[in-house]
This record gives sequence, C-alpha cells and structure tokens, in this order.
Amino acid sequence: MTASGTFGYGTERCHPFDIQKLGAIVCKGTTLEPRDGNPQPRLAETAGGVLNSIGLQNIGVKALIKEKAPIWASWRVPVIVNIAGGTIDDYAKVAGELDGVAGISAIEVNISCPNIKAGGAEFGAIPKSAAEVTTAVRAATSLPILVKLTPNTSSIAEVATAVAEAGADAISLINTLKGVAIDITKRRPLVGSVSGGLSGPAIKPVALYLVYEVAGAVAVPVIGCGGITTASDALEFIMAGASAIQVGTASFTNPRAPLDVLEGIERFLEEEGIADIAELIGAARR
Ligand SMILES: Cc1cc2nc3c(=O)[nH]c(=O)nc-3n(C[C@H](O)[C@H](O)[C@H](O)COP(=O)(O)O)c2cc1C
Repeated sequence: MTASGTFGYGTERCHPFDIQKLGAIVCKGTTLEPRDGNPQPRLAETAGGVLNSIGLQNIGVKALIKEKAPIWASWRVPVIVNIAGGTIDDYAKVAGELDGVAGISAIEVNISCPNIKAGGAEFGAIPKSAAEVTTAVRAATSLPILVKLTPNTSSIAEVATAVAEAGADAISLINTLKGVAIDITKRRPLVGSVSGGLSGPAIKPVALYLVYEVAGAVAVPVIGCGGITTASDALEFIMAGASAIQVGTASFTNPRAPLDVLEGIERFLEEEGIADIAELIGAARR
C-alpha cells in the first residue's frame, strides 16, 4: 500500500508506473471541511528522514466523494480513505459520509497526526480515547476500518488492544514521530509550526519495534509502515508480524518505490521458493 499523505489521491498524473498493480492506495488524510494546512515551510530534510508539518491540508470529504471516488470506482486497485478530525463526532461524521460510496474500499482512521492543534495524535496516545474514536467510526460505517496508531505514546500495546476490542478490523502503524530541526543561521525552526513529524529510514527500527509489539498483542492484522524503502525493509516488517506494509517517504526520492518494493518481495519469494507470503508473517517471532 501507499502511506497516507505521500501519494496524494492516486489521481495525479505524476506516478511513473501502473498504480493499478499496487495492493491498495491510502489517500491523503480527509476531514469534514477542507483544510489549508499549516504555515510554510512544511517540509525539512533531516539525516535519514523528513520532518513534515502539512497540517492535514485536504479538499474535505464532500469534494472527495464528488471528485475522487467516481474515478476510484473504475480502478482495480482498492482505495482506502484516511480520515481525521478535531472531535470524535468529526470522525464519525466523515466515516458516515463515506459509507456506501462506490470506489471506497475501507477507512483508515488517523488518530495519530502530530501536526494539528486539536484531536489527531491526542486521541491515539491514550487507550480510552483511541477506543472511543474507533467505536464511533465503527457505528457510522459498514466499511472495513483500519486504525492508524501513533508512536508518540508510552502504551502502544494497550492502545492497540483497546482499538481492536472497539471494532478495528486492522491496525496500521506507525505515523510520524514528533521532531524539531533548527536553521542555525536564521536561528529559527525549519518548519513553520516549530515541530513536525519525522518519517523515512531514520524511523524504521522504531517502527519495527512497535509493529513487533503490537503484532504480539492483538489478533487483528497489523499493517507495518515507517521508513520502508526497499523490499528487504518490507520483509523485515512482515517477519516482525505485519500482514501488509505501506511505503511513504521513500516515494519522494524514488517515485517508483511502492512498485519496486512489491516487485522485490515477489522476487524474494521466488528465490526462496515460497508460494504464499503468509508463510513469512511473523517468521522472526517463532
Ligand atoms: C508529507 C507527509 C504527509 C503525511 N500525511 C499523512 C496523513 O494525512 N495521514 C496519515 O495518517 N499519515 C500521514 N503521514 C504519515 C505517513 O502516512 C506514514 O505513516 C509515515 O510517514 C511513516 O512512514 P514513512 O517513513 O514510510 O513515510 C504523512 C507523512 C508525510 C511524510
């Protein structure tokens, strides 16, 4: 899958490969109303990673249903809509709007955005509020729901267990880690909102650890994300217990990364004589 916020809506004409070959596309985080996002600059490169502070700039759920879903409905590749909100009610309303819309295969509930003032990661840091959002979304839609967790919590296994019990069909993780970078000549933070979310290869070991923890704590499928750049990275997540993976920041330096990772996994399976990737899920845990 593509990771939310790093592949637009899939409808942009810039992707240098057949996107229909992917397992799924997760679109940019979508809110009830359109959002302009945070002040510029919003992206800064750091060692082995990127700090972003987009602030959920998006077209809003109504425009998404009108302009994007009809295009998705003709695709082979399933599209998962990532949603966010400032209140639990916002999440439920967005999920309700998406229910039954042709072209939308599932909802990914982002309770992990570090870049908005209200809501977002606050919901994902505590098991109780994470479960409340999940329960509200579950009640609002019959679509499968993935709940996307933040690494910015001291209790990842408890949060994962709470959202699974509240009705999540799968758990995706991780969203970005909170970080700061400073321009020493200007003596100012490199992103406009001071802190941003760190992604890319720098976060991979952290993501792998948290995926390993969560896969050991819940029975629902886990979708691994965080710094995956190559097929070998992806296979590490699978072996840690992920049933699927997402490629995010890697697309910025290699726009073919999602397909390269997929084709690399296929080659590995062939070379190793493995007929079904399910044989590798959690292989490093046994
Ligand atoms: C520019 C940018 C925008 C993002 N926007 C979203 C978003 O809207 N919703 C979301 O759940 N995650 C968002 N993310 C987080 C990614 O989906 C992913 O969880 C994170 O970047 C870690 O994966 P990576 O290291 O492969 O990029 C964004 C990441 C980046 C770099």
